Amino acid sequence: MTLDISKLSKNIIEKKTVIGVLGLGQVGLPTALCILNANYRVVGIDRDEKLIKHIASGKSPIPEHGFENLIENFLTNNLLTVSTSSSLLSEADIIIVCVPTPLDGLTSTADLSYLKNALTDISDLLNTQKLIIIESTIPPNTIKNVLIPHVENKSGKKAGEGFLLSYCPERISPGNSLIEFTNNARLIGADDDDSLNLTNLFLKNITKGKILLSKSTNAEISKLAENSFRDLNIAFANELAIICEQSGADVFEVIRLANTHPRVNIHFPGPGVGGPCLTKDPYLLIQGKTIDSSLIKLARNTNDAMPDHIVKTFLGAFKIDLKPKKPKILILGIAYKPEVNDTRKSPTIDIINKLKANNLENIYVHDPYTSESFGVTLVTENLRSILKDFDCIITVTAHKQYKELDISLFKDDCVVIDAARIFEKDQFLDTDITYLPLGSR
Ligand SMILES: NC(=O)c1ccc[n+]([C@@H]2O[C@H](COP(=O)([O-])OP(=O)(O)OC[C@H]3O[C@@H](n4cnc5c(N)ncnc54)[C@H](O)[C@@H]3O)[C@@H](O)[C@H]2O)c1
Repeated sequence: MTLDISKLSKNIIEKKTVIGVLGLGQVGLPTALCILNANYRVVGIDRDEKLIKHIASGKSPIPEHGFENLIENFLTNNLLTVSTSSSLLSEADIIIVCVPTPLDGLTSTADLSYLKNALTDISDLLNTQKLIIIESTIPPNTIKNVLIPHVENKSGKKAGEGFLLSYCPERISPGNSLIEFTNNARLIGADDDDSLNLTNLFLKNITKGKILLSKSTNAEISKLAENSFRDLNIAFANELAIICEQSGADVFEVIRLANTHPRVNIHFPGPGVGGPCLTKDPYLLIQGKTIDSSLIKLARNTNDAMPDHIVKTFLGAFKIDLKPKKPKILILGIAYKPEVNDTRKSPTIDIINKLKANNLENIYVHDPYTSESFGVTLVTENLRSILKDFDCIITVTAHKQYKELDISLFKDDCVVIDAARIFEKDQFLDTDITYLPLGSR
């Protein structure tokens, strides 16, 4: 079978193409909803049975505004089908792959097994013409050297003849994904014109953002460079935070001042970098490279050391003040960023473990978006009613709810380690609370 490009193009323009989305997680589900918003029919596949049942019942696993209404509406109108069975993808003309590409814990290289498994399933369905779009983040040369040969090998068909394959890395920020998916500029990487042009045509129909076309390896490295740049920039901000603590300056004021320079854009410091992307993508960029990549590794190490810095701040405060021997500690925020329920690689995990390693036992956590507690006590009561119980409050995630907390609800002589910088110093001026904001003394 040779591909009928003009028929595929016509179907894309007339919105007659069925779109398959493989992997309905933090990236796949918003992707599916945006494609549905653009009036295409979507078949969404995930091997997680619980997740599929959840979505099929009209519920959203992601707490983003508007998701549940959209899911319910698309299901009711038979525009969205969800299933664990990838065989349903046989009716799809375009399949978007959004499965995980985590780090292999031992080698710090990408574990491509999820992608290969997904592509093996798709390879069985290539009796009809398909465009496969990879959205998962991948190391350099993966499209050319790993994924295309894998599909060719499993399907017995040649790329460009039996199937098309392109790379279209995702740039959405969870929590704001519908808006970002529709408006962000997007990269497409492919090494043959048909894959490039057809993906471009499809994207033009679902996003308003600028679309940039390049070779697959350029797009792969560009995606990794974006997140590595952000990780490096945050590492710089974290280092500035420590310099400011030692110098009596305030890092937020320093950054505010510095960023008025027309060519300076320093990010903000924090208790560590979490989430599935910034903690991983710098390693994917340098995997298997013989170049001296010490800057990228150093930034990772700096950011990974921030939970330790927070725990040292805690230990310093309680030694000096001779506060209760077994202080009761409350950590505010488990999600890795505000207003999401994703706890992957959250700095809270490391902070808990490091507190425990210092024989601290009275550790409690609270998060309005998740019930994961990483082995310590989860606060389920009304937060305002129990704040007075705690000798120390550590802010990790800047959820809006925490910014609205009245500090008169805190214990009179408690210690507040504000790693998420959600309070102002002035709020504590006439109190006996020891306030220790990250990056300021
Ligand atoms: N989360 C983000 O903010 C973000 C942003 C940009 C890029 N990415 C990249 O996108 C990819 C997906 O990330 P995510 O955060 O959505 O992951 P996720 O873990 O939230 O979702 C992945 C989903 O894929 C499913 N899955 C795994 N193998 C499968 C298979 N063979 N068939 C069907 N379903 C399968 C899993 O059950 C899971 O629900 C990763 O490569 C990640 O690096 C993530």
